Amino acid sequence: MTLPRASLILVVLGSMLAAPATGRADDVEQKAAICVACHGDKGVPINPNIPIIWGQNEGYIYLELRDLKLGNRKSDVMGPIAATLEKQDMIDLAAYFAAKPWPELEQPSPPRDVVKRAEQAINAAVCQSCHLDHWQGNSTTPRVGGQQHEYLRATMAAFRDGTRANNPWMTALLKTYSDQDIDALAAYLAAAQ
Ligand code: HEC
Ligand code: HEC
Repeated sequence: MTLPRASLILVVLGSMLAAPATGRADDVEQKAAICVACHGDKGVPINPNIPIIWGQNEGYIYLELRDLKLGNRKSDVMGPIAATLEKQDMIDLAAYFAAKPWPELEQPSPPRDVVKRAEQAINAAVCQSCHLDHWQGNSTTPRVGGQQHEYLRATMAAFRDGTRANNPWMTALLKTYSDQDIDALAAYLAAAQ
């Protein structure tokens, strides 16, 4: 997405978020309609840098909105949006999106050597002790299997360089990995079911 388009969307969304609400259910629908502009209708994001949030785990969605608002996780796009949300909005939006079906993007499996590199990193770090057998996560641990390839790469790089500072443990873990490892992990997870 180009920057001018993103800022235009933000201006429009800012005014929508500020609109008075009629009731809680309407309020959630109204706020969720804004998210669709980027996270997509039917849960398929409008571009590869935007994560899937449909069917993501409820506790995790809430934590990310909170951290984006607090600035522990920095994003020029999501930061200003999260800043407009109150705690109850975040709780409601997390429940709303978690209840939706996860969209299957059917991203292709990477070549054999990339799979091998990813599997070495995965076994060494026992990633699935937290992200679970099908990479589905649970509660405040995110689902990462089938997530957008480009987003996965960017967010792991952001953990590593500290831009995404809301989980020191993931940062410490990914610091030990090269760019090639992160690229391999992103390609592997994007294709994982
Ligand atoms: C203008 C586009 C845009 C809009 C509108 C938008 N988002 Fe986002 N969202 C993004 C981008 C881009 C990211 C990735 C941020 C990053 O990591 O740099 C993101 C990340 C997220 C994440 C973190 C997901 C993860 O896997 O860590 C959540 C949760 C989220 N958005 C929820 C929402 C909700 C709820 C709304 C509506 C209130 C919303 N977003 C509106 C673009 C948008
Ligand atoms: C000790 C448990 C644990 C282990 C082991 C672990 N993770 Fe995580 N991971 C988490 C938690 C918790 C989060 C969410 C952090 C936050 O609050 O933002 C996370 C976040 C992520 C994200 C960001 C997802 C998103 O939607 O933005 C990716 C990608 C990821 N982990 C991949 C991995 C990989 C690959 C490994 C192994 C190399 C791994 N994790 C090992 C617990 C773990």
